[in-house]
Amino acid sequence: MQARLIDGKAIAAAVREQVATQAAGFRAQTGIIPHLAAVLVGRDPASSVYVKNKRLACDKAGLSSSLDELPAETTQTELLAVVRRLNADPGVHGILVQLPLPPQIETQAVLDAVNPIKDVDCFHPENVGRMVQGRPRFLPCTPHGVQHLLHAAGVETAGAHVVVLGRSEIVGKPMALLLMQKGPGANATVTICHSQTRNLTAVMRTADILIAAIGRAGFVTADAVKPGAVVIDVGTNRVGDKLVGDVDFAGVSQVAAAMTPVPGGVGPMTIAMLLKNTLEAARLQAKVGGHFNFSSSQS
Ligand code: GUN
Repeated sequence: MQARLIDGKAIAAAVREQVATQAAGFRAQTGIIPHLAAVLVGRDPASSVYVKNKRLACDKAGLSSSLDELPAETTQTELLAVVRRLNADPGVHGILVQLPLPPQIETQAVLDAVNPIKDVDCFHPENVGRMVQGRPRFLPCTPHGVQHLLHAAGVETAGAHVVVLGRSEIVGKPMALLLMQKGPGANATVTICHSQTRNLTAVMRTADILIAAIGRAGFVTADAVKPGAVVIDVGTNRVGDKLVGDVDFAGVSQVAAAMTPVPGGVGPMTIAMLLKNTLEAARLQAKVGGHFNFSSSQS
């Protein structure tokens, strides 16, 4: 069997086009251009590229963006002051603090300080809680991107056994939660695997849909994939000057029915969903005006 390729680039382009059309309509109606404020601390080359691509995508979709670039030695107090300034700025609709942050900064304290109505990453506990309860304000960009990819590729999730490899706050955990929800594009039976999982290969082989998000190049080999399964590769690992996924592409493409490539699979979807959330944030803020009461102790 030669796996069908799920083309994330093309699927993301369609989402971006839809956002561009809707953003133009919103602007015509309200005069508001949705604005994403990115914050980058330090000079991690991968993070710099991600932020640049996110801003470029905003530009192409008719959204505006700005970037606060802070030195690697920035203190938590200084970063919190930047977040508070962006929270208070009515011209900023979405705030994205690029992760990872340097070790002197407590990541959760910073994410907790973002006004939930501007939290386009869906990292704030209020937004995570809402998602868990099935009444989301925003959906987390990468998991939502994977969900959309599956839908656009005609992969049925209802009743399917999905195995998620990795339990990170950004991908693994929210991915599992999204797919186990009631509703279209979900209704799956979900297993999360991690470093302590026993008989990992055997568990992976039970997956109808295998989602790899552990950050280890080529970790998922053909023997861990049930023939005919769908494999989604969220990994972005640098090996020399090459970007490779968590899935051994050559081997797995011989047994899977369909799979995403790296690059050109999940990555473009993350950005497309960020644009969607930024437009949604602007819409929400236009509705409530200055009346959203953010009572975090950090504000
Ligand atoms: N670092 C890796 N992925 C992400 C993401 O989706 N959002 C942010 N803010 N940082 C990241």
